[in-house]
Amino acid sequence: MIRVEIPPQPYAVHFEPLDRLGAITRDVCDPAARRAFLVTDANLPPEMVAAAQGSLASAQFAVTVARLTAHETAKSLSSLEDLLGSIAAARLERIDPVIALGGGIVGDLAGFAAAVYRRGVPVIQVPTTLLSMVDASVGGKTAANLSVPGLGLLKNLVGAFWQPHAVLVDAASLASLNDREFHAGLAECVKHSLIASDFDDADLFKFIQSNTEDILDRRVSVLRELLERNIAIKAKVVSSDPHELAPDAAGGRALLNLGHTFAHAIETISTLSPTHSLADAPLKHGEAVALGLIAATHTAESLGLLPAAQVQAVSELLAALKLPVKVDALPPNAELLERMQHDKKVIGGSLRLVIPVAGNHARVMRNVPDDAITAGWDAIRA
Ligand code: GLY
Repeated sequence: MIRVEIPPQPYAVHFEPLDRLGAITRDVCDPAARRAFLVTDANLPPEMVAAAQGSLASAQFAVTVARLTAHETAKSLSSLEDLLGSIAAARLERIDPVIALGGGIVGDLAGFAAAVYRRGVPVIQVPTTLLSMVDASVGGKTAANLSVPGLGLLKNLVGAFWQPHAVLVDAASLASLNDREFHAGLAECVKHSLIASDFDDADLFKFIQSNTEDILDRRVSVLRELLERNIAIKAKVVSSDPHELAPDAAGGRALLNLGHTFAHAIETISTLSPTHSLADAPLKHGEAVALGLIAATHTAESLGLLPAAQVQAVSELLAALKLPVKVDALPPNAELLERMQHDKKVIGGSLRLVIPVAGNHARVMRNVPDDAITAGWDAIRA
């Protein structure tokens, strides 16, 4: 178990089988809670949903199940409204929990619904993808996308910080995850490894490097260690700066955006593909993050902050983990620089970039010269 020390209500990430969901939920909720609203991904194996539902029922919750189609276009305010309507129709009271069983889209939208329904009901996050286990389910960020006139679909532009009452990670859920989703989640693990020295795990990069084969084969003992070390880092980062308010010099939660300012600029371009085939477009978030990490390391190298050998090692590791390291048909640099200006992390008109530095540290920097940023973009241009 890993504790996430965020006041006023610290919580735990439990590494347990899914059939413990009911007992864990009962433990963290008001004893008088009678109903639970289970939000799932329509693509989850039915037996996984049945296990969650059965476990909640045996802990004396009357369960209502909603199935979302987990796609970025479904992560909208109109889906949120539908979800809230269903929660209200199930007559959830203020003490009754919402359970998010699925990947990041389900977790973000169900978490957002829990944050605003009756001004806040408990949420239990039960991530089923690697990406949501190591990142999205911990730290209380909830969100929906917003379609903005003139700017298109902006990801996660609206949302709330709403910490879960508990997180349940069952590594067995990863067995049914398709390869592409699994590989995409590994990008966030590599990201954590590049900031890990600041969070007491300087060797995570080496661990991933020396266990690549076992990770790809999803060997259970290695996956457990990978999950625990990554979630420990995520828990430490968000506990140190729950609302991402730390000054640049302290880094804080903003460090988790390593690679993401580059990634956000390209992941909504529907024609970009992780392979040479358009049939594989668009990029998944984790794939865009892998490309973003490579771009960020090249930017760091051109600022003299990261040696070429480490830049190369990051790229080789991502390739070994079956992630894209270059992308076809990237827009021109001027357009990419413009797209970066729409990032949520722009403050006072100034772009805040997270730059990896030698020894698996990172720092938040403003006013990074355009030519250092374009060195990053050029490095991933096929
Ligand atoms: N996924 C980044 C964060 O939780 O802050």
